[in-house]
Amino acid sequence: MPGLSAATGGRILFGGDYNPEQWPEETWHEDVRLMKDAGVNSVTLGVFSWAKLEPHPGAREFGWLDTLMDLMRDSGIGVVLATPTSSPPPWMGRLHPDTLPVTEDGRTEWWGGRQHFSHSSATYRRYAAAITEDLAARYGGHPALTMWHINNEYCTFDHGDEAAAAFRRWLREKYGTLDALNTAWGTAFWSQGYDSWDGILPPRQPHYMKNPTQVLDFRRFTSDMLLECYVAERDIVRRHTPHIPVTTNFMPLWSGQDAWRWAEEEDVVSVDLYPDPRDPLGAQHGALVQDMTRSQARGPWMLMEQAAGPVNWRGVNHPKPRGLNRLWSLQAVARGADAVCYFQWRQSRQGAEKFHSGMVSHAGEEGRTFQEVKRLGADLARIGGHVTGSAIQAEVAVLHDWHAWWAGSQDGRPSSHVDHPDVLRAWHRALWEAHLTTDFAHPEHDLSAYRLVVVPQLYLLTDAAIDNLLAHVRGGGTLVCGFLTGIADEDDRVRPGGMDARLRELFGIRTLHEWWPLDAGETVACQSFTGSLWSEEIEAAEDAETIPYRGGELDGLPAVLRRGRAWYVSTLPEAEALRDLLAEIAAGAGVRPVLDGLPAGVEAVRRGDLLFLLNHGREPVTVEVPGSHRDLLSGSTPTDKVTLGRYGAAVLQP
Ligand code: GAL
Repeated sequence: MPGLSAATGGRILFGGDYNPEQWPEETWHEDVRLMKDAGVNSVTLGVFSWAKLEPHPGAREFGWLDTLMDLMRDSGIGVVLATPTSSPPPWMGRLHPDTLPVTEDGRTEWWGGRQHFSHSSATYRRYAAAITEDLAARYGGHPALTMWHINNEYCTFDHGDEAAAAFRRWLREKYGTLDALNTAWGTAFWSQGYDSWDGILPPRQPHYMKNPTQVLDFRRFTSDMLLECYVAERDIVRRHTPHIPVTTNFMPLWSGQDAWRWAEEEDVVSVDLYPDPRDPLGAQHGALVQDMTRSQARGPWMLMEQAAGPVNWRGVNHPKPRGLNRLWSLQAVARGADAVCYFQWRQSRQGAEKFHSGMVSHAGEEGRTFQEVKRLGADLARIGGHVTGSAIQAEVAVLHDWHAWWAGSQDGRPSSHVDHPDVLRAWHRALWEAHLTTDFAHPEHDLSAYRLVVVPQLYLLTDAAIDNLLAHVRGGGTLVCGFLTGIADEDDRVRPGGMDARLRELFGIRTLHEWWPLDAGETVACQSFTGSLWSEEIEAAEDAETIPYRGGELDGLPAVLRRGRAWYVSTLPEAEALRDLLAEIAAGAGVRPVLDGLPAGVEAVRRGDLLFLLNHGREPVTVEVPGSHRDLLSGSTPTDKVTLGRYGAAVLQP
């Protein structure tokens, strides 16, 4: 299958969503002039163009798109052509209410916004296939076409009747018999036993808490149904253009899709990333999403969307201070992106996103936003030929799994304060601050490339995943697990002893007596640090090494356990303590940081033979880098040290 390199041709793709249908034709020519000025080489057309392309059922209005495709061809700008299927035209909902999704409490999601389609609706799927077929037939041979972009940020849930029927089909295929389903769902509890497939519903709003395995299966079903929609469109475009790569854009750390599964079906993995410019941990969040996307792609990936300035969907929408757009874009490249794109090219004047920034803001060509975009375009052109296609070597893997997230995030838990993404972020941040380059992996993936495997929290682990973790340690690898790991099997059935016995044995946990979740703001003292969120009453095996809790009910009991190369952390250590603990464990496993002695706030990443240095601080810093280098950004040739200005960056070639 063609990959991202088929579209980049050795350059970093630079551009964004282009919605020219919002503008008169004169503006299109102005757009092209500015795009060329900024070094834009890629635009995504058609994401929300369904009503324009098919104004009435079955009609086709391609003339405007023909003009734009030709304009892009003549300007040397590649087109990522989107299927418009994420926002059906109003006529579809009006004529076919069965295409509209229904929430768990029975509310219809009407047209007038976007993404109002039911993944299970045969009518929706028929219309989506037809417009995709016609787009592929018409533009498959167009020289401007570089990639297909299917739909946009798949994210809808549906609890309606057609989805209910599809859910039953999905369950029949999974379980075969009602007995098997009743056993897996534990329906002996609360008189939930099913005597007929027809009685099974999506988890619609009940009087009191829902059946957790029903909810878990519904999450799996929803991800699978959306994936079916994607695959159906992908197969259509692939039939027309087997040489053109296909993608769909993920939302970062979004709970709705099992992105490991999805990534297998994509030629190019792409993501939309919008850290809050005011968030002191914005860079860490960016790094996490970038590492995860690269791992899903197993190589270079596409930053499909970011914002050149403010978004408009937070309570308060802050612009990016001078230099931050460039810095975060270079961070993405450092962590494997071969495409740096935006939502959107030109800021809208109407519609729900008119206060969302664009590469060309309302201030126009003279505005700071566009001027900074231009500078970035020149930077990316300078480094593109050196960086595209090159790999990042990581000796540490963080394990993540959507099924564990779904199962572990339901009602009726010991603590609703435990938030799966927050725990993941805390652990990845610790690795980031220790300058340890990190991949992500699925718990059943081959882990043999990694010296150190880190499991921040995997509440649900399959038997195969547990075997995999044990094999990793047996094979000489080091493993660190955080609390609430290995609690449930794949049906969300609690494992005997409250945590998998083989894991308990591995870590030297003789008995897990009780969990002691902590209130917001509450902390627990340990010998050398403070923990929050969670603590555990554990009786350790005799040969386990431990760091004990100090004071309180758990005084003297182990907070951290270690047996050989396996570590278990039963609380959430404060940020510096977790960083130091992981740095120590990594050192013991033979994993070195990218550079020693980096000043606080400076990120270092090696990609291929290049060393990226990124200063996330507002003050200039000097970084010691032994040897002579060429900085591909500035053209300078520093020896032994490099000075980075506020939000400054260097890309050093030996
Ligand atoms: C994304 C979406 C874009 C735009 C953007 C605004 O979720 O794909 O179409 O809405 O957010 O930040």
